[in-house]
Amino acid sequence: MHGVIDPATAGTLATSEEPRGPLLQVRNLTVEFATRNGLVKAVKNVNLTVAKGETLGIVGESGSGKSVTSYTVMRILDRAGRIAEGSIAFSGIDIAHAGEKQMRDLRGREMSMIFQNPRAALNPIRKVGHQIGDVLLHHLQADPRNVKEKVIEILNQVRIARPEERYHAYPFELSGGMCQRIVIALALACRPQLMIADEPTTGLDVTTQKAVMDLVTELTRARGMSTLLITHDLGLAAAYCDTVMVMEKGEVVETAPAEQIFRNPQHPYTRKLMRATPRPGISLRDLLPEEAQTQGLAQASPLPNLPPQAGEGAPVAPVEDGLPGADISAGHPLPLAGEGREGAAAPAAELSSVTKGAAVPEADKTLQPLLKVENLVKEYPRQGAPIAFLASLFGKKPAKEDGIFRAVDGISFEVRKGESVGLVGESGCGKSTTSTIVMRLIDATSGRITFDGEDLSAIPAKSFAHHPMRKRIQMVFQDPTESLNPRYTAARAIADPLLR
Ligand SMILES: Nc1ncnc2c1ncn2[C@@H]1O[C@H](COP(=O)(O)OP(=O)(O)O)[C@@H](O)[C@H]1O
Ligand SMILES: [Mg+2]
Repeated sequence: MHGVIDPATAGTLATSEEPRGPLLQVRNLTVEFATRNGLVKAVKNVNLTVAKGETLGIVGESGSGKSVTSYTVMRILDRAGRIAEGSIAFSGIDIAHAGEKQMRDLRGREMSMIFQNPRAALNPIRKVGHQIGDVLLHHLQADPRNVKEKVIEILNQVRIARPEERYHAYPFELSGGMCQRIVIALALACRPQLMIADEPTTGLDVTTQKAVMDLVTELTRARGMSTLLITHDLGLAAAYCDTVMVMEKGEVVETAPAEQIFRNPQHPYTRKLMRATPRPGISLRDLLPEEAQTQGLAQASPLPNLPPQAGEGAPVAPVEDGLPGADISAGHPLPLAGEGREGAAAPAAELSSVTKGAAVPEADKTLQPLLKVENLVKEYPRQGAPIAFLASLFGKKPAKEDGIFRAVDGISFEVRKGESVGLVGESGCGKSTTSTIVMRLIDATSGRITFDGEDLSAIPAKSFAHHPMRKRIQMVFQDPTESLNPRYTAARAIADPLLR
C-alpha cells in the first residue's frame, strides 16, 4: 500500500501488516448541528462497515443525512456540526478524536472525496495538468523532472483522449464528464485506501454517468480500494455497489447486499425509493405517492410517460424535500411524439432540439415564434491557438479548424408562445452554451436570436443585465444551492428580484 500513515499516530496500523477487520467502522454515530432553531440531529445512530476492497452505497432522498455521514468520516463538517455520540474507526484510527494535523495527513492520502460538481473542486484559473501535478508533487508522488510525464500517464488512466492537449486545458474548456475524470485523477493520485464519492454523476447525462461510474469501479478495483458511493439513485447503487445502505431522515432503515435490496426490498421506504428509480416502462405516474395515484390525480395523460401539459389540470403539489420529481430528469428515455432536428450540422456530439409538434395548435404556427434562434455558432480558441495565430502572422496558413473549437455549430430552432422545446444531448454537446447565449450571458460568435420580434443578438452580453428584456427571459440552473445567496432567507431570496 502506498501512502503509509505516520506510525506514531496510526494506532493499530503501526506494524506493516494489513489491519485486521474492516477499513471503516462507524458505530452509533449521531451528528447534530446548532441552528437558530436549536439543535438538529442530522444523523441518528448510524452504523456502517466498509471492508477492504468493498463498495458500500448510501442511498436516500435529499436531506436524509448521506453527505453529513460522509463529511463526518472525513471530519469536514461545518463548524456548527459536531459528533454528539458514537465512534468512527478508520484503519484503526479513532477519527472522532484524531488531531487536525493527523486528519490533514489522512485526507487525500488515505481517504479522498469526489463531489457532484467537479468544476467546484477544480481551480478555474489553473491548467488541469498543473493541478494534477501540484497534488503529485505535494504528496511526493513525482518530482519536477518527471511530473508532466506522470500527469499524462494519469490522464490516460482516466481515459482522457488527447492527454497532451488536455494537460493545458482550463476546467471551463472541458465538459462536466471530463472535469469529473480530472477530479477522479486528483482523488486517486495518492492511491488512498478509501474513496468517498458523493453524488459523483448526478450532474451528468446517462451515457457519461455510466462511463464515469465504470471508470471509478475499474480504477478502485484495480487498486484494491474501498469506496463509499453516495447517491439518491438506488439503481446506480445497486449496479455498482456490493452492499447498499438506505437512509431516511438521518437514520439507517435497511442495509443489505445490493442484489437483495433490489430484488427484495424490506423496508417501505426502500420500496418507495425503488418506485422512484427510473427504468424503462415506468411512468411519472408511478412516482406519485400511492394515495395520489388512486385519487385520479394521475389520469392517463395523452402521451404515456410524459407529464400532463401545463393547464391540463394536474396540480403541482408542494414538495416536502420531496422524493418524486427528484429523479425524473435522471435521463431514462421518454417516448417523444415528434422529433425534428433543425439547423445545420450539430456540434461534435449530437445535439437535438425536439418539439412536440403534434401538441402545438395549428393556428400558432402562423404567428411569429416567441424565440427564434438562427444559425447560432460559438467558437472557442483551442489550446495552442495563439501559436497558430503567430504562425499566421508569419505567413504560414494553419488549417482553419486547428485553432478553433466549435462548441455550438450552426443551431437553429424556434419556440412558440406556450410551447416547450427540449434540447437534448449528451454532456458537452453544447446545450448549456446554447442556453447561456440565448440568456445573453455570453456572446455568440455568429448567428441571430430574435425574441418577441427584437434582435437580442444585437445587445452585447455585458449590457443585457440592465436591459428591460432581461426580466422576460429567466433561467433555472442545475444546482439550486449555487443560485441562492446563502446569506438570504427563503423569503428574502424571493423578494429580492421583485424589489429591484
Ligand atoms: N450546516 C448545517 N447546518 C444545519 N443543518 C444541516 C447542515 N448541513 C446539513 N444539515 C441538515 O442535515 C440533514 C442531512 O443533510 P445531508 O447529509 O446534506 O443530506 P443528503 O446528503 O442525504 O442530501 C438535512 O436535514 C440538512 O438540513
Ligand atoms: Mg448530499
